[in-house]
Parts: sequence; structure tokens; C-alpha cells
Amino acid sequence: MNKLPLLEDLPPVDGRRVLVRTDFNVPLDDGRITDDFRVRAALPTITWLQERGATVVCASHLGRPRGKPDPAFSMEPVRRRLAELAPGVELLENLRFDPGEEGNDPAFVARLVEGMDAYVDDAFGAAHRAHASIVGPPQTLPSAAGRLLAREVEVLSGLRDHPRSPFVAVLGGAKVSDKLGVIDALLGLVDALVIGGGMCFTFLAALGNPIGDSLCEPDQIDACRRLLDGPKPIHLPSDVVGLDPAGQFATFGTRLPDGAKGLDIGPGSAAAFADVVLDARTVLWNGPMGLFEDPRFAAGTKTLAQAMADTKAFTVVGGGDSAAALAEFGLADDVDHVSTGGGASLELLELGDLPGLAALREAPNAHA
Ligand code: 3PG
Ligand code: MG
Repeated sequence: MNKLPLLEDLPPVDGRRVLVRTDFNVPLDDGRITDDFRVRAALPTITWLQERGATVVCASHLGRPRGKPDPAFSMEPVRRRLAELAPGVELLENLRFDPGEEGNDPAFVARLVEGMDAYVDDAFGAAHRAHASIVGPPQTLPSAAGRLLAREVEVLSGLRDHPRSPFVAVLGGAKVSDKLGVIDALLGLVDALVIGGGMCFTFLAALGNPIGDSLCEPDQIDACRRLLDGPKPIHLPSDVVGLDPAGQFATFGTRLPDGAKGLDIGPGSAAAFADVVLDARTVLWNGPMGLFEDPRFAAGTKTLAQAMADTKAFTVVGGGDSAAALAEFGLADDVDHVSTGGGASLELLELGDLPGLAALREAPNAHA
């Protein structure tokens, strides 16, 4: 397999226009960026290019405007933040305002690369999408993986290829169905799996527990039972907290009464999960343990985040909500790697490759 071409593999960029695909799909509240992690994460690549005399033209999607201009998804807030962090960078309008982006339309690719001398992909969070701006430009332009993309691939491929044992994956989030493929793949890599978050209730149901009104995917119960019957240990909560049928905060074991709703792992489970993390030498965490946006249901996620910070293990946190939780608890600097991609990191772990990486390896300047 070709190696990913890096910035050093580009022809000289002095005086050249370089198209940089970034993932500036940042969380917005009323037009304000609530977390600029993804913008800051692109700075090493942008600076590298600017220091060598390139004109940098960034392009990103923002949200899911479905192929039409929509002021709610304008890049303007990002443009302002970028101007503060990296003056002199151009930023194109939201790529997904044009249906050609998600449709990978050759005519849209042609417009993107017009007037450009090179292409850099630093959009790790979107590298699992075979969209025009990701797989198109490397077909014709000298291309490279940016610093962020290259580092993400190095860390996540390392988890696949040579993790130090015990390797533990902690998964949360709402849906089992979203993560079934990755759970299957992870079970082949890890020594143990820890499951919290909304998805734990489908597993608890698979063991015959009544789960009240908690989140459940009945059509996934058989799949969960099959996973639980497999050879690798899967740790599930032994207690949960949530709301009782009267809507009051309550603590339960693993059997919930009718009308009750589990919304976080309980204190006993949180302590037990923390022990597993503290004893591991490699930990991957993706997905919160409960509804941490509500302070009543944040304790499980916070205990897990603290264990991630305290353990001597090599710690990797996969994007999205778990990264946001870490940042909220002020612990983002205490783990070894916070991925900018949620879906992309899981897909890379599951499949070992992504459309964006494959495209770069086929670029005209990539070496065999
Ligand atoms: C993300 O935030 O997950 C990436 O930017 C990809 O966005 P998408 O899931 O809308 O393709
Ligand atoms: Mg996503």
C-alpha cells in the first residue's frame, strides 16, 4: 500500500495557491462558535504552508444544509475566528451549499481545483465521507495529508496495529445500531469492552433485565446477546441513575421499574469502570456515559473522564460528545490524544482505511 504523502512531499509551495480541506464543522449556538477545537487543530498545517510562502485557501462543510445555501450554516462565524487565529487565510463558503459536494460531482471538483496548485487534506473528521472535496482534488493535484490528519492516522492505526495490553475500549452514546460494526471490530482488538451511555440498556435488556422507559433498540437485542456470549469480557453497569416513574431523581440496580428511565451509569458502575481504565495500558473512549448535559446525569461521564486523566495508560478519546465532555471538565490536556473525528475515528478503527486516505495515496505525487 502506498504511504500517505505528507507536506514534505509537495512540490515547493512558495507563491502557490494551496487548497486545504479542513473540518471546520464546529458546534454553533445562535451563530456563535461554542468550541473552536477543530479550528485550532488545523493551525499547524496552515502555519507550515504560510511560512513557506503559500496562499492558503481553506474549504469545509458546516452542518448538513443538504445542497442548498442556508444562512444558519454560513461559514461567517468560522471565517471571523480563523482571521483571529491565522490572518491572511481565505475560506470558501460551506461546501455543502452545493449538491455537488456530497454527490461527488466531477464538475464541482473541477471548480474547486481551478486556480489551485496543490491540495492538502487536514479534515480528519470528514475523511470517512467520499465527498467531492475529499476524494476529488487528489486525482489531479499534487496532494498531502496535513499535520492533523497524519497524526490522527498514526495514533488510531497504532491502536489497531500495536496496542499495549491490556487494551480497553469504553463506549457510550445513544445507539447500539450505529456502533455494531465497530463493536465487532473492537472485540477483535481489545482485551475488554466497557459499555455505558444510552446503548447499555439494550445490552441490559439482552440479559433479561426490565429497563422501564430507558432507551432501547429491540431489534438489536439479539446482536447484543451474541456479543455478550463471545469470548471477550464486556463490562456493563451494575447500577444506574435516572428518573423514577414520578419524574424524581433515583438510583436503581440493573432492573428498572415500569415508567422509570435510566439516564446515567450509577456510582458503583462509575467506580468499577474507572478501575478498569486505571488498570489498562491502552484506553479508547468514545461516547458519554450518560446525559451529561444535565448536571444530575453528568457524574458517570465525569468519573470516567477523571479516570482517563489519571490512568498511566495511553489514552485516546474519539471526537464529538466525549471530547466535549472532557473539555467541559477541564481535562482535555490530560489525555494523550483527543481525536477531532467521532465517526471517522471509529470507522478507521473498524475498517483500517478511509476514502480520504485512499484518495491521498493515489495522488500524482504519492510514492509507491
Ligand atoms: C463530523 O462532525 O462528524 C464531521 O464533520 C462529518 O460531518 P457529517 O457527519 O455531517 O458528515
Ligand atoms: Mg458525525
